[in-house]
Amino acid sequence: MKATATAPANIAFIKYWGKKDEKLRLPETGSISMSLDKCLTTTTVEFADSHKADSFVLDREIVVGKEAARVFKQLDRLRSLAGSTSKAKVVSQNNFPKGTGIASSASGFAALTVATASALGLVLSEKELSIYARLGSGSACRSIPEGIVEWLEGDSNETSYAHSLYPVDYWNLRDVLAIVSSSEKKVGSSRGHTLGKKSIFHEARVKAVYKLILQIKEAIKDKDIHKMGEILEADCIYMHAVMMSSTPALFYWNAGTMNVIHKTIELRGQGIPVYFTIDAGPNVHLITEEKYVEQVSTAISKIQGVQSTIINKPAKGARITENHLF
Ligand code: DP6
Repeated sequence: MKATATAPANIAFIKYWGKKDEKLRLPETGSISMSLDKCLTTTTVEFADSHKADSFVLDREIVVGKEAARVFKQLDRLRSLAGSTSKAKVVSQNNFPKGTGIASSASGFAALTVATASALGLVLSEKELSIYARLGSGSACRSIPEGIVEWLEGDSNETSYAHSLYPVDYWNLRDVLAIVSSSEKKVGSSRGHTLGKKSIFHEARVKAVYKLILQIKEAIKDKDIHKMGEILEADCIYMHAVMMSSTPALFYWNAGTMNVIHKTIELRGQGIPVYFTIDAGPNVHLITEEKYVEQVSTAISKIQGVQSTIINKPAKGARITENHLF
């Protein structure tokens, strides 16, 4: 009754920001993302009668309180599906800094869902795993399928899930991730989603996103980096405008974020197709094609405030591995 799964984080090209159902984590709009092959969470789950209570260890530290309760709730959802009452030991390891806007809750809940289902002997389809991952953390539903992924908004638990638009080898896209901070963010995204509804820009963005999704899907189909880049950059700016105009205002960027944005625009002026996007944190994802990675990462590494870079390719989806963490 022990299983281990690895899942990638993902970077949203069109963002999930705002829920129409908080409990079911139904988003107000669909979203599009790329899974990241160098930002992974591995999770081992073991159900045994010797475990008297659920426990959760993340990056070698015991987790308690709200963060642990959210994990145990996810165990409950799958336990009730399997008709089990066994308690579980959960050990999880990220290979990237936590709480930095690299979607650690996405890779975390995707790996947890796949490992838990397997440890309970449940055989679930990719769609079902995506639905369960969504209930844990919205963006986690996009970390189940591979490559470039679309989360279908849906209007019920069964109709809101993610599927792969294109596999990993479809297009040589790269995400040069510029780390400008590795400290925890002060306001988590779950709360941010709710605060954003008060922004005067929220409704306008929701309306715009329907069109942006159609347009970016066309651009991805045509492998048109310029068109895709312009659209993903636009939605990043729209979402952060919503965040900054929430009550209270949410400023996720720092000085390093701004420096990287300016450099990206400068690089484009030199003919390099590179576009920025940022989730709920200060780190900047620079989307480009493989042949420009060297130029982009060399230029970005020199910028004040950039601590390191991680170069990501599109990743395989969440999967079972044999490398148990205990
Ligand atoms: C800014 O998935 O972390 O990264 O459903 O409350 O867990 P919860 O929110 P979460 O929100 C992620 C928001 C985002 C944009 C995105 O990934 O689409």
